Amino acid sequence: MWDRLARAGIPYTRPQGRPPKSAAALRRFLDPDGRLGGVRLKGASVLALAAGGGWDAAVFALLGADTYLADISAIQLRTARDLARKKGVSIRTARVDMSDLSRFPAESFDVVWHCHSLVFVRDVRKVFLEVGRVLKPGGTYLTSTMHPTTLRLYGRYTGDGWAPRTSYFDERAMPYSEDSDVTWQFGRIKVVAPTIEFGHTIETLVNGIAVAGMVVDGLWETSPGDFNLDATPGSDDHLETLFPAFIQIRARKL
Ligand SMILES: C[S@@+](CC[C@H](N)C(=O)[O-])C[C@H]1O[C@@H](n2cnc3c(N)ncnc32)[C@H](O)[C@@H]1O
Repeated sequence: MWDRLARAGIPYTRPQGRPPKSAAALRRFLDPDGRLGGVRLKGASVLALAAGGGWDAAVFALLGADTYLADISAIQLRTARDLARKKGVSIRTARVDMSDLSRFPAESFDVVWHCHSLVFVRDVRKVFLEVGRVLKPGGTYLTSTMHPTTLRLYGRYTGDGWAPRTSYFDERAMPYSEDSDVTWQFGRIKVVAPTIEFGHTIETLVNGIAVAGMVVDGLWETSPGDFNLDATPGSDDHLETLFPAFIQIRARKL
């Protein structure tokens, strides 16, 4: 599905912005909220997990990290490789499912950077066990995904309030209702992409990380941009002023 989205060129599969020049500015570009504050990247080994299609892997390499990019989509990998080449840095790439990182030896990475893709995985516990295995002791894991509450509420305004698609406790794939539109549209770009998404509860996320031998040392719930107080009542923008769009978790391997 991500190959199909990338072939259509939807913005989520394209690099956003342009990396600045100085190391400090590059670091802010990569990590605007400073979640990796204090983590040395020069000389570190970094796994950019499911980070195809964007700048992240190239920016880690520009910051002096020995960078491996792993993603399931060949096209997303190619886009990131091209960006790195344009910037004159080298990254290694692997086409893998994030639930199976067996091609990487245990304790190979100082940092696993993993943004916005757990939502596509049925069993996050497998992913966390793999991350816990490939991280070095003391290594840092940063992950983010769709917020499990808000994910259940998108497009579900009834006029009186929001009717969740499923119970918070039901972690099966988000169902499509008869009226759900599986077309991703951005301007003139349109692609039918019934992506399967999972809203993992916060309990599943945090305990899955703990069981994998990591300890959570930061958790943030955020929405993009400024709150839009003029958003149409019941719209997704309005929903994101009331509830967080994303959850981000940082953990350290014990
Ligand atoms: C929303 S994009 C995020 C891209 C990047 N992490 C970022 O934040 O710019 C989701 C990425 O996850 C990848 N992906 C989806 N399912 C995956 C899986 N099971 N294993 C590895 N990568 C996967 C997709 O190919 C896509 O590149």
